[in-house]
Amino acid sequence: MATELTWLGHGTWTIRTGEHSLILDPFLTDNPSTDVGPDDVAADFVLISHGHFDHAADLVAVATKTGATVIGIYEITDWCTKQGIAADKVHGMNIGGGFDFPFGRVKMTPAVHSSAMFDGTAIGAAGGFLLELDGKRVYFACDTALFGDMTLIGDEGIDLAVLPIGDNFTMGPADAVRATTMLRPTRVAPAHYGTWPPIAQDADAWAARIREATDAEPVVLAPGGTIAL
Ligand code: NI
Ligand code: MN
Repeated sequence: MATELTWLGHGTWTIRTGEHSLILDPFLTDNPSTDVGPDDVAADFVLISHGHFDHAADLVAVATKTGATVIGIYEITDWCTKQGIAADKVHGMNIGGGFDFPFGRVKMTPAVHSSAMFDGTAIGAAGGFLLELDGKRVYFACDTALFGDMTLIGDEGIDLAVLPIGDNFTMGPADAVRATTMLRPTRVAPAHYGTWPPIAQDADAWAARIREATDAEPVVLAPGGTIAL
């Protein structure tokens, strides 16, 4: 089966690849962009980019309900075990490290962003993910500013880049165009916008700028929309 990515609004994505189901940054219950709740999710792996509420709020609920393995930076997976998630259901990583999972390869990328668990626990750095799924590479920048080393990430050859465009908490539309120039993906999708007034953006206007200024094809989804790789 082809790999399919579904945007649940904000920074939350579900991914189906082969026989595996993943969820990235499970923010569901208080996410105004989706009606999907933690009880509706089927996942055997959860990817978590950092500890902020708007990414990790439903992490423990989803992991507990599904029995999924949590993949993220070591400090977060360690925090998960203190919330009662079994030690064999977490896989700690760190920035720059990669690992071959049953569904594909995960490499943690840097992100320029703060990170703490939403309960106040200090937990190291925020990250992004470069995924290799069924021979295709998907880069989730997650919450980050623009940074020059995106050029290095782009050197790996990216089929789809998912970039925040919301501004205020992450890079905004103009910097996401510059990021696309550095990453050189075949396709680029916006995320982390439109959830609340401070991050309202015109994604179609952004897509027009992507077409003008880069070689990438923009893919603008409505929440609930799916991209096939
Ligand atoms: Ni954040
Ligand atoms: Mn965020």
